[in-house]
Amino acid sequence: MSIPIRSRPPTQSRGMLDASLKFGTALLRMLPAEMAHDVGMWMLERDLLKYMPLPAFGSSLDGLSMNIPGIGDLAHPIGLAAGFDKNARAPKGFARTGLSFLELGTITPRPQDGNPKPRLFRLDNQMGLINRMGFNSDGAQHVAERLKRLEWSHEAVPMGINLGKNKDTDISAAIEDYSQGIETFSRYAKYFVINVSSPNTAGLRGLANEHFLKELGMRHKGELSKLWVKLDPDMKKKDFQGLVEALAKIGFQGLVLTNTHRVEHPQQGGLSGHALALQATACLEWAWEVTRGQLPLIASGGILSGQDVFQRIARGASAVQIYSALVYRGPLAVFAMLDELRSEMDLRGFSFLSDVKGSYYND
Ligand SMILES: Cc1cc2nc3c(=O)[nH]c(=O)nc-3n(C[C@H](O)[C@H](O)[C@H](O)COP(=O)(O)O)c2cc1C
Repeated sequence: MSIPIRSRPPTQSRGMLDASLKFGTALLRMLPAEMAHDVGMWMLERDLLKYMPLPAFGSSLDGLSMNIPGIGDLAHPIGLAAGFDKNARAPKGFARTGLSFLELGTITPRPQDGNPKPRLFRLDNQMGLINRMGFNSDGAQHVAERLKRLEWSHEAVPMGINLGKNKDTDISAAIEDYSQGIETFSRYAKYFVINVSSPNTAGLRGLANEHFLKELGMRHKGELSKLWVKLDPDMKKKDFQGLVEALAKIGFQGLVLTNTHRVEHPQQGGLSGHALALQATACLEWAWEVTRGQLPLIASGGILSGQDVFQRIARGASAVQIYSALVYRGPLAVFAMLDELRSEMDLRGFSFLSDVKGSYYND
């Protein structure tokens, strides 16, 4: 079966609620990007969506459930990508947008401010963003206290924690930062993502090597089934596939593919959204080529429509994560994308999403 990559970002239309939320999203987009993000977070933190007549899922989720080893059964495959809620301020608000699992962070051991502003830029005609946030983090202790108060139940919406290192931690001591993160959050996180792929912390991507990740894996042998690694899309195919094979051998639970693409123009930072889709999709195919479904994969990067979700699942992902879609399509993005996913499945004759998984490689 050949599933072509869509060449244009999607458009959508729904009813009154959609029109008003779209209007709100458009208003937010008139603000500088990070200010808009902060306003959105402010609203989500106060759980303001609970006052809106959001669509109910009901039977619309039939056939869309997916199982992610080590994370659990999901009602549907669309989760939150890391970076939106770096400090665990609004998990309830995000769950209300219909997301089926949440990845919070990146969290660093000690608090740090991140890079100077401006550090977040929109690429409107690409439904994309460039960011060089540089891990602005409240620090592990502070976030852990927030999670303690939250008493999250992973039953309905599993929550993972994405871990990074502080900017001023020497690369030779980076392993301590990740270890500390695992220890601090072990009772709160359903799963961990080891972030060795953000482009905005000097030396971080250099940690995406077998030696470092093996040492980390060996230190946390008992927790390997909770550990995922998020890789960048900028590696050469041979190096990427070599690392994927090594990570499978070490026993990591799975991979998140991918983080942002490093760019210098029109801004320095990491590129998200539509322009990332081809590279992120290629990485998924490369990973499948060497693991043949043996290593669970979560797709991230340019997933903006239900058709995109379908294509990533068909290429072997167990689930997907979104960031830019929430920025450009607003708080109803998940509901709209699930409608589109269902249409795509109907069109291609699939009743169960679990049957879609890996189907791209069947011919
Ligand atoms: C403003 C911003 C901040 C991000 N911060 C993080 C982060 O802290 N950790 C991480 O692993 N990924 C981070 N990401 C990457 C996203 O998790 C995601 O992998 C990427 O944006 C691609 O998905 P998208 O095309 O749906 O936006 C960030 C992305 C953006 C736009």
